[in-house]
Amino acid sequence: MAETAERHPNTDTHGDRDTRDTVPAPPPSPGPPPARDLTGIVLSTGRLVLAAPGAADIPAIHEICQDPDIQAWTMVPSPYEYEHARHFVEQSVPAGLAAGTDAVFAVYSAVGGRLLGMTGLHGITGPEARHGARAEVGYWTAPYARRQGYTAEAVRALCRWGLAELGLQRIEWIAFDGNDASRHLAVKVGFTIEGTLRNRMVHRGRRTDIWIGSLIPGDPL
Ligand SMILES: CC(C)(COP(=O)(O)OP(=O)(O)OC[C@H]1O[C@@H](n2cnc3c(N)ncnc32)[C@H](O)[C@@H]1OP(=O)(O)O)[C@@H](O)C(=O)NCCC(=O)NCCS
Repeated sequence: MAETAERHPNTDTHGDRDTRDTVPAPPPSPGPPPARDLTGIVLSTGRLVLAAPGAADIPAIHEICQDPDIQAWTMVPSPYEYEHARHFVEQSVPAGLAAGTDAVFAVYSAVGGRLLGMTGLHGITGPEARHGARAEVGYWTAPYARRQGYTAEAVRALCRWGLAELGLQRIEWIAFDGNDASRHLAVKVGFTIEGTLRNRMVHRGRRTDIWIGSLIPGDPL
């Protein structure tokens, strides 16, 4: 459900100065900072490790994404082919991390390293962007790992990191109308539900309302 990222133009605002000038040149305007490369970030909680998914996770991701709830409530391709999982791990995730626009992490059990789910911040922008520093949270969890508080633990850690390290001023939560599990989770983590946007999206060929909420600095997390 992530929206398109607003890219950071990595502009060089000052060229070579002419050394014959006697009048001091004005200081170069700072311009927007380059987007931060997020490759290699690892987050840990009591029970979990969050890190970029690797090639060994491709079969499990392919299998987990056959789950009807993931197909119903997220925007993963449907049908979800092995190639989708491979492209996700090998292309999409590394590209988003390197560009600093999408910080997507596999959620692993700290003991044993089993893949439990996926969570990420999408469409990350910085303070120079038109709407400032913000991102959209996303997540899915394997059916075998649900209702054990893992997702809340992972999303909380991710959001804390996003607020503290990326300086986000708003993390947005968006779900299709009726996704009660996602809504419960968002509220448990600390998001404030802001309302319903009617007919906001088309999902699997059907127009649907969406729920929207947010987490901002200072919210209990
Ligand atoms: C939504 C989802 C990630 C929740 O994962 P989870 O691991 O079960 O969540 P947690 O165990 O951390 O539970 C967090 C809270 O949500 C509640 N919750 C989880 N599933 C629920 C459900 N089906 N109905 C009602 N509440 C639910 C839990 O009870 C818990 O609240 P509590 O501690 O007050 O009891 C999981 O159901 C899923 O992957 N769904 C399909 C993909 C999806 O919908 N992604 C989100 C798209 S916006």
